[in-house]
Amino acid sequence: MFSFFKSKSSIPSVPFLLESIESDWHSHVLPGIDDGSQNAEQSLEMLQEYVRLGIKKIVATPHVRADYFKNTKESIIEAQSKVQHLITAHQLPLVLEASAEYFADENFLQLIEQDQLLPIENQYILFEFPMQSPILWATKLVEKLQRKGYTPLLAHPERYRYWHGKPQEWGKWKNRGVCFQLNLLSLTGHYGSAERRAAFQLLDTDYIDAVGSDAHGLSHLQKLNELAKNPHFDKLQQLPLLNHLE
Ligand SMILES: [Fe+2]
Repeated sequence: MFSFFKSKSSIPSVPFLLESIESDWHSHVLPGIDDGSQNAEQSLEMLQEYVRLGIKKIVATPHVRADYFKNTKESIIEAQSKVQHLITAHQLPLVLEASAEYFADENFLQLIEQDQLLPIENQYILFEFPMQSPILWATKLVEKLQRKGYTPLLAHPERYRYWHGKPQEWGKWKNRGVCFQLNLLSLTGHYGSAERRAAFQLLDTDYIDAVGSDAHGLSHLQKLNELAKNPHFDKLQQLPLLNHLE
């Protein structure tokens, strides 16, 4: 009988929680091109929550993978223009940049060769490995990116369970010049306790270069409010993250 009074989220919003982080480097806010926002209405809900959280810049990173999401530079830029239109029409204090989350597949190798990538800040390429098992040609992939002048930025290293309990595996990639992007929700246990533990370990070893929400919708952004009382989030805010604006 109290449902009438329920807000959309049971978690109270913490205004400007992410103000010190400044920008989100991993977001599925672009509508209708992957498993994130499905339409302009959902994108607008996310944009408004970003403003409440104190985020000033969003890097949109839709999936690019040959088996599920065959996005191209063109499809991403077209979806970006729709979200930019929302930002302008609603006078939201947000900067939007279009990039992608590239899945490590043959298609990605071709895009690198063909210079068809959308880097973050003209430099960083956000990419992900398969969740189930490591790929044998991962080193080749990283070297290909580096030869093209890019800095590889690995999405959510805390989520690859085949590296759990093997911090030397993280160290190998850091030594090869790969930057790490932590999912903020991993600190809350959103993906599981093993992922949370791995996130804490990555923070303790100072391996984190950037953070992202990896938000696929409004509910993910609202769940970030749980970070307010998280001591690891306090530590994160002291780091010289790539997220900080000039
Ligand atoms: Fe993602």
